[in-house]
Amino acid sequence: MITQTMDIPDKTKGDAPRDTLTITDNRTGKTYELPITDDTIRAMDLRQIKVNDADFGMMTYDPALLNTAATRSSITYIDGDKGILEYRGIPIEQLAEHSNFLETAYLILFGELPTAQQYHEWQDKVLHRTMVKEYIKVLMQAFRYDAHPMSMFISTVAALSTYYPEANQIMNPEIRMKQIVRLVAKTPTIAAYSYRHHRGLPYVYPDNDLSYTGNFLNMLDKMTQVKYEPDPAWERALDVLFILHADHEQNAGTNAMRAIGSTHVDPYSAMAGAAAALYGPLHGGANEEVIRMLTQIGSIKNVPEFVEKVKKGEGKLMGFGHRVYKNYDPRAKIVKQTAYQVFESTGVNPLLEIALELERIALQDEYFVKRKLYPNVDFYSGLIYQAMGFPMAFFPVLFAIPRTVGWLAQWQEGLIDAEQKITRPRQIYTGPAQRDYVPMSARK
Ligand code: SDX
Repeated sequence: MITQTMDIPDKTKGDAPRDTLTITDNRTGKTYELPITDDTIRAMDLRQIKVNDADFGMMTYDPALLNTAATRSSITYIDGDKGILEYRGIPIEQLAEHSNFLETAYLILFGELPTAQQYHEWQDKVLHRTMVKEYIKVLMQAFRYDAHPMSMFISTVAALSTYYPEANQIMNPEIRMKQIVRLVAKTPTIAAYSYRHHRGLPYVYPDNDLSYTGNFLNMLDKMTQVKYEPDPAWERALDVLFILHADHEQNAGTNAMRAIGSTHVDPYSAMAGAAAALYGPLHGGANEEVIRMLTQIGSIKNVPEFVEKVKKGEGKLMGFGHRVYKNYDPRAKIVKQTAYQVFESTGVNPLLEIALELERIALQDEYFVKRKLYPNVDFYSGLIYQAMGFPMAFFPVLFAIPRTVGWLAQWQEGLIDAEQKITRPRQIYTGPAQRDYVPMSARK
């Protein structure tokens, strides 16, 4: 076996370490030196590693993409070990304290905080595109009264592509931005329509005198009053929650948005797919599952028994754990603070004490500590939504509205990234070797 040891650079002689990885294929004894950039190697550089020339070449195998960077991105930075989340470099804690959702949406989409003039123009653009075509009402009528609002949201977003055929000109910046503004503006209206359908109430048209979240509350709750006046505490709470949910780098929903968008389909169709991914109970659907879990536990005295069941693998602690965060999700801390502010006007959600006891036990129990399971953004958000009177089924829709901004920013970034092309992963084939067709008469 030929073995070739690398010359270990002697730092005393000023030899700087080379940014390369040396791989020896022990099947052939050959050694390969691969460049390291941004602490990664390019998977395509492995394809030169073959046993013989007929080989396809080596690939990486990474189910669920646990350790694969699929893109470069300048939008959101997460440090899972330190519990850090930044949009365009600005810490989420500062945005939650000082910003509002539309301003944060501008930051995520355009890369900088807007000047006063830019913010006014952006707000004006969005608030004057909140109306949806009247046909949407007819579409909504097709759903049963008890249709899940997230299914209605996904279907209606996909249907929007039928109204804006120019949206498939995805490489035209002006046309692309027009669709982005439409989706940011119309998702609260679509969500509110699905809520009013669910409650059997007439739809409420947008009121552009109100803020983005104030108008959302207006479309949800307005009854016979001439002018709806949103509760400022609720308006602010939704702004903070929307800021926290706006983007989260390459999560499952965003990965879907990028993969679908890479086929150059219009953004409405791509976003319907992203919203479908978010709907899953392991992803954005977890906030609904947390309330089901807390309701099922029913009382603080049942918490120890429930925790023991989870430790035996008989179920998950919904709202806990995260692929990236191995520390407290910074968003969960802010949601928890916001919950107390909302409870001042709604009264404390009775499930809160069960949630607090679950957190107290989990944060000190070896099973959860060893697996670095902490509350994530979904653990406390459902308690606020429920206290504000939203039905549980509506919780994932409240996640999808703000995440529309992240999906669109990530979609656009992927489209203009010269390194990207249509997403098409490889596989390890495990099926039968080639064999002949067997006529029906000859089959056993
Ligand atoms: C979101 O990716 C994002 O950024 C998502 C998101 C965003 O903003 O887009 O942050 C939003 O989706 C938050 C996550 C919401 N989902 C939940 O709260 C559902 C409950 N959580 C889990 O299903 C789980 O923690 C995931 C899906 C969030 C992460 O799963 P991983 O990274 O694949 O981890 P894993 O399933 O491999 O678990 C590792 C271990 C396993 O135990 P062992 O096999 O090692 O013995 O931890 C255990 C798991 O059984 N575990 C849990 C658990 N989560 C993981 N055990 C009990 N309860 C849990 N919640």
